[in-house]
Amino acid sequence: MKLAVYPGSFDPVTNGHIDILERTSKLFDKIVVAVIHNVSKQALFTPQERADLIRESTKHLPNIEVECFSGLLADYVSGKHACAIIRGLRTVIDFEYEMQMAMWNRVLIPNLETIFVMSDSKYTFVSSSGVKEAALLGGNVSSLVPEVVERGLLAKLTIIRQNKEG
Ligand code: COA
Repeated sequence: MKLAVYPGSFDPVTNGHIDILERTSKLFDKIVVAVIHNVSKQALFTPQERADLIRESTKHLPNIEVECFSGLLADYVSGKHACAIIRGLRTVIDFEYEMQMAMWNRVLIPNLETIFVMSDSKYTFVSSSGVKEAALLGGNVSSLVPEVVERGLLAKLTIIRQNKEG
């Protein structure tokens, strides 16, 4: 079975990520979306909330599983017996960081391939931070995130406002 891992923070998942999954799900028997707790990033959603949002948003893709993980990606990928890591490339700015990560992961697991998939042009400017910032400032992000994520962002916004008032 050809299994690939699609790792990331996904705080939250956007239509850009879903686009990558819709295209790569045709290439592999199974894709495990691995939600990482990235300590260098201040997260809005807990890893469990992020995983649930991805599950809801990928119900139309039968070969997608979602898990949370922390630690070294190479260890996680080895444990899954995955043949590839999937990463999306939006612009050339992503390239240098992604190339370094791919090299690191190849040193740690020589047989592992990193598969880069070009984002759809309509999502090249989209990032989770951008979506969070716009939504939390009252902007409409409905064209950039799944409906369930939009609802999740509005719920977080309500909590933040209540905390400020209280
Ligand atoms: N559409 C929309 N946004 C996209 C996107 C796409 N197709 N592809 C990437 N992005 C955005 C993400 O939303 C995220 O935005 P943000 O920075 O505003 O949150 C940004 O690009 C970075 O993507 P992400 O995949 O979340 O990267 P990351 O840097 O948080 O995590 C890992 C990358 C998980 C691969 C890396 O941190 C990792 O491997 N960690 C484990 C520890 C490890 O093994 N380290 C290697 C040691 S050498």
